[in-house]
Amino acid sequence: MAHAQKVKFEQPKEFKFSPENMKLVEHHIAKYPKGRQASAVMPMLDIAQKQNDNWIPEAAMEEIARLLDMPRIKVFEVATFYTMYNLAPKGKHHLQFCTTTPCWLAGSGDVVKACEKHLGVKLGETTPDNMFTISEVECLGACVNAPVIQRNGDDFYEDLNPQNVIAVLDGLKAGKPVPKGSHTGRLTSLGAQGATCLTDIATKTGNKVAGEGKK
Ligand code: FES
Repeated sequence: MAHAQKVKFEQPKEFKFSPENMKLVEHHIAKYPKGRQASAVMPMLDIAQKQNDNWIPEAAMEEIARLLDMPRIKVFEVATFYTMYNLAPKGKHHLQFCTTTPCWLAGSGDVVKACEKHLGVKLGETTPDNMFTISEVECLGACVNAPVIQRNGDDFYEDLNPQNVIAVLDGLKAGKPVPKGSHTGRLTSLGAQGATCLTDIATKTGNKVAGEGKK
């Protein structure tokens, strides 16, 4: 097994939003009444993370506190509470595996084991080529398509098993487009019994219609 990379990093001394991102920041702040601008803290953390190669330095949290006129500790509290915010550098693909009960019952343990074996790292570690960081998170809100992985906070890969998740990893490593959503071919969250409404859409997309078998 390859040795997992110990990620060493330094906190940058300064952080400023790019002019383009500053427009986005202003857009979010403007959504809230005067005196309530702190409500923009979550999208601002997300913008900072995307600007800074998928992690949020302390200087960014301080800059957000300054822009929102709120105590730094309150920004830190939000950033440290949610697993979607990374407070240290991650691999190019940060894969967050849901292992909460519905995903676990659907086989997330086997999906995690297959990935750990394929990549040669354990949960919480980064591959030596810095391509993947894998971590464990609580419910990602896509339980009906369990097991689920979230990539870099945006892309969801669903209906995973120990076989199709390897194709996801290999596709990402090769820089190929990896389909988001279900990896067993079902339409969004269509139940195993097949479509019971919107049957015309299900038929067009090759999905099963209840009582009629696979179309
Ligand atoms: S339990 Fe895994 S997405 Fe909800």
